Amino acid sequence: MNRFLQPDSASARLWDAARTVIPGGSSKANFVVRPRPFYLVSGRGCRVTDADGVERLDASNNFTALIHGHAFRPVIEAVTAQLERGSAFAASTPEEVALARLIVDRVPGVDQIRFGNSGTEAVMMAIKAARAYTGRDRIAKFEGAYHGYYDDVQVSFSSGPESWGPPDEPASVPSSGGIPKHRVVEVLVLPWNDRDATERLLARHRHEIAAVLVDPLSNRMGFIPPAEGFLDFLRQVTRAHGILVIFDEVISFRVGMSGAQGRYGGDPDLTTFGKIIGGGFPVGATGGKAEVMAVFDPGSKGPRIASGGTFSANPVSMSAGLATLGALDQAAWDRLEAMGARLRHGLNEVLRASGVPGVVMGDASLFRLLMAEDRPRSYRDTVDPAVDERMTRLFMQLLDQRVLVGTNGLGCLSTPMGDAEIDEFISATERALAAMKHERGGR
Ligand SMILES: Cc1ncc(COP(=O)(O)O)c(C=O)c1O
Repeated sequence: MNRFLQPDSASARLWDAARTVIPGGSSKANFVVRPRPFYLVSGRGCRVTDADGVERLDASNNFTALIHGHAFRPVIEAVTAQLERGSAFAASTPEEVALARLIVDRVPGVDQIRFGNSGTEAVMMAIKAARAYTGRDRIAKFEGAYHGYYDDVQVSFSSGPESWGPPDEPASVPSSGGIPKHRVVEVLVLPWNDRDATERLLARHRHEIAAVLVDPLSNRMGFIPPAEGFLDFLRQVTRAHGILVIFDEVISFRVGMSGAQGRYGGDPDLTTFGKIIGGGFPVGATGGKAEVMAVFDPGSKGPRIASGGTFSANPVSMSAGLATLGALDQAAWDRLEAMGARLRHGLNEVLRASGVPGVVMGDASLFRLLMAEDRPRSYRDTVDPAVDERMTRLFMQLLDQRVLVGTNGLGCLSTPMGDAEIDEFISATERALAAMKHERGGR
């Protein structure tokens, strides 16, 4: 069913047209499909249809952003009504206030919140807030964690053995071109779940570090969960040195009503959001303790930051977010969580039976297919060209079996899915793995 691979397919024609006007034929940098990408024309519930009319089960949900799948009726109604009233204004709207209230009520570390347009922007706002509040310049982040494409965080999320340095003192390595060298060296890189190294490195740089940026459940790292007590330990160490903790919950907010901090603890000073809180529309948000959030208040007497955004808190994204989060009661979260556990169990079983190396990581509605021999304990365990090559082959075979996941194996469930779709996914994976073995005599 990979019709897009045929040279005369509609996707091939679109790609030819696209390549002359868009570098690489696509603006979706994290979705590179070779020899050519496919183009999607519609989505409904948990299915998407490509330009050649092939329908697939969508377990990518736009990189985890759509928790109710596509064309969710309450979002369509809320957004349509909002469009009738206007799509963007110079002043704030009641929808902004309502979404702020909803998130503040649900997330323990958020007394106040401010909206932007993307997760990248949310992280950028949080870092600036931490710098303004502490008067310090440097930030620390964990090796292997992705936080968007802002200069300070495009460091060591894709580093490799040639440059990553000792495991207990990771080097700061640029993960993109275009990052000034001085910005790279300013970032302190920490090894995830390693208490001794984290304590030692933070103590060494304690007077320079404004904040530690933490994704409590990092997709790029392979969804390695925080070790028992690690986040609370981090909180104690940072507090002792006057360092703030920023939780990046752009993806991990999917693990439950109160996000990852509700599940794993950690008491962050600031939290960043994106993806599901916009109900399918562009969004980002930075929330946190009122004392720190005061830096965003133009009337504040203390340190302040200048931050704008023509489309920040636009009422279309706010309405879609309200309709999305409003439809997620505890029963919906519990159902997603149970389906996620069943999916991960089923996928791990078919992987084991197939003999193809691979494990499924994740929590609640999130999963990551990682084609490694064992469950990773650190980011470095996930870095292996053979793992990536197996994932690329599985991705293509899954597409052929009419299932869409992220090219790196990231995926998630949506509320329109049920047990039938979980079974469909598991048996499609079983067939995809069998086809992979057939391709190369099994590896
Ligand atoms: C943990 C995390 N933080 C930040 C971002 C950046 O969000 P956006 O792509 O909306 O800029 C992402 C994007 O995938 C992410 O996974």
